[in-house]
Amino acid sequence: MRRINLSTMPVNASSQPLYAAPAKSPKPESGRTHQINMPTTTARMVKTDRREDLRQRFCEVRNVTLRLTESLSAEDQMLQSMPDASPVKWHLAHTTWFFETFLLLPHIPSYKPFDARFQFLFNSYYKQVGAHPQRGSRGLMSRPSLGSVHDYRRHVDAAVIDRLKQASDGEWDLVELGLNHEQQHQELILTDIKHALWSSPLPAEIHGAAIEPASSTPRSWLHFEGGIREVGHAANGFAFDNETPRHEVLLRPFQLASRCVTNAEYLAFMTDGGYRRPELWLSDGWDRACTEHWDSPLYWNCADDGAWRCFTRAGLKPVEPAEPVCHVSYFEADAFARWAGVRLPTEEEWEVAAGSEPLTGTLLDDGTLHPQPSKGEGLTQMIGDVWEWTASPYAAYPGFRPAKGALGEYNGKFMCNQFVLRGGSCCTPASHIRPTYRNFFPPHARWQFTGIRLANDAS
Ligand SMILES: [Fe+2]
Repeated sequence: MRRINLSTMPVNASSQPLYAAPAKSPKPESGRTHQINMPTTTARMVKTDRREDLRQRFCEVRNVTLRLTESLSAEDQMLQSMPDASPVKWHLAHTTWFFETFLLLPHIPSYKPFDARFQFLFNSYYKQVGAHPQRGSRGLMSRPSLGSVHDYRRHVDAAVIDRLKQASDGEWDLVELGLNHEQQHQELILTDIKHALWSSPLPAEIHGAAIEPASSTPRSWLHFEGGIREVGHAANGFAFDNETPRHEVLLRPFQLASRCVTNAEYLAFMTDGGYRRPELWLSDGWDRACTEHWDSPLYWNCADDGAWRCFTRAGLKPVEPAEPVCHVSYFEADAFARWAGVRLPTEEEWEVAAGSEPLTGTLLDDGTLHPQPSKGEGLTQMIGDVWEWTASPYAAYPGFRPAKGALGEYNGKFMCNQFVLRGGSCCTPASHIRPTYRNFFPPHARWQFTGIRLANDAS
């Protein structure tokens, strides 16, 4: 029997860190969208620095993506276990397609595509670019081979690096967008292959050594004053369009839990009939839970001895009480909060709270690919470990305008029937996350590293 074991996932496959330390510290929040009255020589230096950073990051990010896949066979990389999840091979090709479609083809008249058919094949959803395959059919792409997709990446990488010698400001912006896009797909590679390997009829083996008992800091409630506050991105540095414009919101005083909900707390909800009590659930959530027979978070499994185990990159392991509960839907997060007598935070409350302290947590760069127990004082796990469901529907900020053209389809057209998640997870690259970052998924989604932080009205 072939051993299914993700412990050899690429983060451990090399002694090199996934990401090198940034060449310089990120710029502090300035509250302004542009520096003004900057001396010309300084402006030129800043521009040169940014270009050098991006050139370096291009090689680094493209390389990290490959490293995330290097322990997987070609067969593994073709798997599509459900329409929401894509094959690893498709992610490798699609992130390459993004650079080819938005940077190379429009800006280099002499550019020769690696294969003209890939324009259709690896388009995800950009209707203004042209037709694309149905999302659920990505697992049918036995052709092109994985080797061809690697060749495609090399072809595009060489063309991009060559173009960077003479790229305009607008083209550098496209490179930056393409790199952030690729980092989003790095996390999707990990979540999608996890689901695919969990779905395999071959049972995953329990991975060797006993789990070290870990403790979590006790939960406390942190108080935040109400009033008119600002949220949204307004700093130097990259942000997606959905994080803008920065704007004022009126908040009532609120409390936020110092850490995420743990497995032990979630087990108490389950033991108290959490999955059998319709009064705790939103109607759509109850219907979904009944239809799909939910009785625990995704990837949990109750063994014959009555103990809960969960599927991780290291195979099945006992559910660790102190770890944050993970792979729960919005519906489960909402039901848990109702059972606990409190609520989920709004995204504005989350962001205002996040601005109050230095943020730490487990990210992709740490290499665990698994959320870790809370440590330390104050607000913990705000960045990394698990994406935190908020009570906020994913909608446009006041004054939001999507970009013109096909790239306007990146975020804006998904502002319907989804909820905002904040903070990143153990599979999010450290250089990709920030307090204003707005992730979004439908309320039934469970295969991302999604967890729960509680909030409450201040008394
Ligand atoms: Fe994409």
